[in-house]
Amino acid sequence: MGEDGKVAPNGDKKPVRVWVDGCFDMVHFGHANLIRQAKLLGDYLIVGVHSDEEIAKQKGPPVYNQEERYKLVRAIKWVDEVVEDAPYSTTLETLDKYDCDFVCHGDDISVMANGQDAYQVVKDANRYREVKRTQGVSTTDIVGRMLLVTKTHHKREGEDLPDKKTMNDIQKDATGHSPWTGVSQFLATTQRIVQFSGGRVAKSTDKVIYVAGAFDCFHIGHLSFLEKASKHGDYVVVGLHTDAEVNRYCGSNYPIMNLHERVLSVLACRYVDEVVIGAPYNVSNDLLKHFNVSLVMHGNSKVYADENGDDPYGEAKRQGKFQLIESQSSMTTAVIVQRIIEHRKNYEERNRAKEKRELSVYESTRKNKGFPDAI
Ligand code: CTP
Ligand code: C5P
Repeated sequence: MGEDGKVAPNGDKKPVRVWVDGCFDMVHFGHANLIRQAKLLGDYLIVGVHSDEEIAKQKGPPVYNQEERYKLVRAIKWVDEVVEDAPYSTTLETLDKYDCDFVCHGDDISVMANGQDAYQVVKDANRYREVKRTQGVSTTDIVGRMLLVTKTHHKREGEDLPDKKTMNDIQKDATGHSPWTGVSQFLATTQRIVQFSGGRVAKSTDKVIYVAGAFDCFHIGHLSFLEKASKHGDYVVVGLHTDAEVNRYCGSNYPIMNLHERVLSVLACRYVDEVVIGAPYNVSNDLLKHFNVSLVMHGNSKVYADENGDDPYGEAKRQGKFQLIESQSSMTTAVIVQRIIEHRKNYEERNRAKEKRELSVYESTRKNKGFPDAI
């Protein structure tokens, strides 16, 4: 038995080892939440990540390449180990090879290109556990936002939308009608934020690092930057700009992920201790004092002036508390959008095929099991 009374299927008393696998494309907070829940089921969590070749075979090319996905999954704070190039279908041999008691998956169906449930074998052997899929976020939906250049994700349910459609209508238009992806809106709750937060409070002796930005579609550039920034101190605070602010300096339909979504993605990163939800654009003396900041850091991206044309880091520079970091990554959110636009046909086809596969499985199982819980 592991800590908290966690028991392996065979009643073993050794630490419970949990296996999770997936594509983890555009590694989002839905994936992080699955990983968080899986870790709670055991003591040690291994995440198997599929290769680009395998994903291309099963559902079309991924947006993030395998090196990016391996690195991003490794940085999620509940992950103990990553297995690269994990097989698409989870076999008992895989679980045994990594000495895992069971596999954990979200309560959506994972259908292979041949129409079969990728987890049937482990389900039959009672080495399968299910946790709730995080509603309102999927790679399919994020790709949809990018392709349709929608801005509706900045709005909240109940707010007037220009064409009087509801949020659900718009998400259905953008992503299709699968019961598992794209039909419900992500609801940000304080409980979820608490679950994602490490809860560590800075000690008075800690050297506090402050960084700010959009951190939209959390990518390897952000990760490299945060990893390097964290080495300069003991406690990292990330100030996340509001959607309106990011839209002011990035334009178009940026940010692709709204503030609540960006909060969770950044909090899931092992190099982050605290997040300011809607940070002031100018890093003021008040803010520096409030967090007892020793150093304000910025990576290799343009610093946009504030609305008055002033440098948002002016005060930190005057106090000798500003330092640039070379993240050694040229990745930007715009590069990701560009990848998707260049491969538009592939992604549209991939989304349609995924939708079709899921709908057919859904239709055939609904009579026996009822509808999956979509809330
Ligand atoms: N997952 C989840 N919540 C989400 C998205 C994914 O719990 N919103 C879970 C899946 O159920 C699976 C794991 O994350 O257990 C890895 O999913 P992945 O293989 O990346 O595929 P998808 O489920 O297709 O993810 P997406 O819909 O985002 O493409
Ligand atoms: O562009 P954004 O506001 O999301 O960037 C957040 C922080 O990450 C900034 O300090 C930025 O310079 C840094 N960054 C980086 N390398 C990248 C992308 C972002 O250092 N490739």
